[in-house]
Amino acid sequence: MSRRLPDDFLLGCATAAHQVEGGLTNDWTLMERERTGWIRDGSVSGIACDHHSRYRDDLRSLADMHHSAHRFSVEWSRVEPHEGVFDRAELDHYRDVVRTCRSLGLEPIVTLHHFTLPQWFAERGGVVDADAPRLFARFVAVCAETFGAGVRWWVTINEPAVLAVLGHLRGEWPPMHRSMRSCLAALGGMARMHAAAYTALHRVAAAHGWTAHVSVAHHERPMLPHNPGSVLDRAATVLPSAIFNRWFLRACTTGRLLPPVGRGQLVPGLRGSLDYLGLNYYCEEVVRFNARQPADLFAEIVAAEGPVSAFGWAIDASGLRRAVERLWAEFRLPILITENGVADEDDELRPGFLRDHLAAVADAAAGGADVRGYLHWTLMDNFEWAEGYSKRFGLLAVDRQTLARVAKPSATFFAEVCRTRVVPDPIPSKS
Ligand code: FCB
Repeated sequence: MSRRLPDDFLLGCATAAHQVEGGLTNDWTLMERERTGWIRDGSVSGIACDHHSRYRDDLRSLADMHHSAHRFSVEWSRVEPHEGVFDRAELDHYRDVVRTCRSLGLEPIVTLHHFTLPQWFAERGGVVDADAPRLFARFVAVCAETFGAGVRWWVTINEPAVLAVLGHLRGEWPPMHRSMRSCLAALGGMARMHAAAYTALHRVAAAHGWTAHVSVAHHERPMLPHNPGSVLDRAATVLPSAIFNRWFLRACTTGRLLPPVGRGQLVPGLRGSLDYLGLNYYCEEVVRFNARQPADLFAEIVAAEGPVSAFGWAIDASGLRRAVERLWAEFRLPILITENGVADEDDELRPGFLRDHLAAVADAAAGGADVRGYLHWTLMDNFEWAEGYSKRFGLLAVDRQTLARVAKPSATFFAEVCRTRVVPDPIPSKS
């Protein structure tokens, strides 16, 4: 059964500055230079996909593929390379990205913090610094004033829980901390930063009579007990899931720093600070109790059975439907899928993945969930954080020597969905 998506349903893809732009100087590039061996394929972000110079061609190719929206991030370290010093040329650059999107019929969705930080900000303590909310909000307000009415959809922070866990608990990403204390402090710090940014965006929008829909991009990774009959396995999912999947959203809706981060203290501007819910969804996780893993709150992740991506992440589109339905039931906020994609070496999985996940979204919407759009991760193969260039999530392949872009079959498939707004019947499997 084919499904039709509404004409105003946003369809497109998402990128992040550090992964595609090239030529950056931020907390990641510092660590990429100073620490050897932590990027798994030995690469550095370097020139990435040179998107900073090639953005016009890249945006044109999105329009040629009939996308109606595009999510990208503004790199704070470019716009404010030194504390309080804003770079006019870089602001003009991003304003032109916004204008080019608009002129090509692409709704721009702007992320203001996608994992990376300016070095001066990281040196002060980064997201846990007491002054972080004020400093972030100042940068955010400058962006809002510069882009004007051109931007209606904003993402303040991409995946706060992922940064808190990988950067502050597991020590795999800058700032390479390894403590639960640091992880919880980072969540609290980012909640304050989000509140300040939300307030700043609405202040600027109200002063000019502009529209602003503001949210975070929340990474939802539902945790399922390995043995549903085991009390311990079930218990092992509770705390990790509460911290990873719900803490931030509940902070934004209640306005409070709830336990285990705080004691329920109110943060100015935090209550009701999601105008919609930005949802990044990749997979569900199966978890089993392991007494030898206290640092992971006794939750051991069990390798997925069944189809998996090149990352080893389970592929099951019904998980996306469940996530959308659950979040809609719990929060009653319009949902924008801000990321969903698959690491896939040769584009064998991606066309079917896209079909099935778009169908899952359409079904959740048909069941009553208010879903406003779907943004695929990602436009082109890029620098996948600590995996380097080894994981390929792109609709377009990028030749690492020439940086030439080549459309994969999935790009053509998705373009047809964007053009017709029809999610076709399942693609027959090759075997
Ligand atoms: C998400 C990130 C994005 C990308 C995808 C694969 O967690 O937001 O930058 O790395 O995963």
